[in-house]
Amino acid sequence: MDAIGLLLFILPSYVANSSPVILGGGRPVDLGCKLWDGRRLFGDGKTLRGLAAGIAAGTVAGYLLAFAGLGTTTTLDFNSRFAVGLLLSVGTMAGDLLGSFTKRRMSIERGAQHEFFDQLLFLGVALLFAAPFYLPAPEEIVFLFAVTYVLHKMTNLIAHKLKLKSVPW
Ligand code: CTP
Ligand code: MG
Repeated sequence: MDAIGLLLFILPSYVANSSPVILGGGRPVDLGCKLWDGRRLFGDGKTLRGLAAGIAAGTVAGYLLAFAGLGTTTTLDFNSRFAVGLLLSVGTMAGDLLGSFTKRRMSIERGAQHEFFDQLLFLGVALLFAAPFYLPAPEEIVFLFAVTYVLHKMTNLIAHKLKLKSVPW
């Protein structure tokens, strides 16, 4: 298994997931809209600027990786490698929104921690979106979930220490 190649393959997803912490803010994606349960559709943690920044930053990362021929997708042509980066980025942000949507339906407040919806759902949706072009082998997917879980915990702890995030998750 090419561990470094796999991490480079998934890098656009990590970039998309982390850049809104720095670049996000302003108007929320749900524009303040509440559902039947009296809770927000997504909540104030999901902003339009964050969404756009995540997709843009992840796609740029994917483009650079495709251009440099890095990652496990090198068997694909350039356009398909670029599509993988784009779909990983869009899928990551879709998974992030789905996570917040589900947390709100479960009455979990914005910013409160949930192991699965915060740490791993975005990766699952990202892989699903990119699957028409590229899907890693089952054991590689297990590896990606394990690494993502640990990396997500570590980077959020660091973001908290750097005062980028108010909570260490
Ligand atoms: N962020 C953003 N726009 C997004 C995603 C994230 O602006 N689409 C920013 C917000 O400032 C958010 C921070 O990145 O607070 C951290 O993201 P995340 O942990 O996903 O959001 P939470 O605030 O924890 O909200 P939730 O409980 O809905 O996950
Ligand atoms: Mg959070």
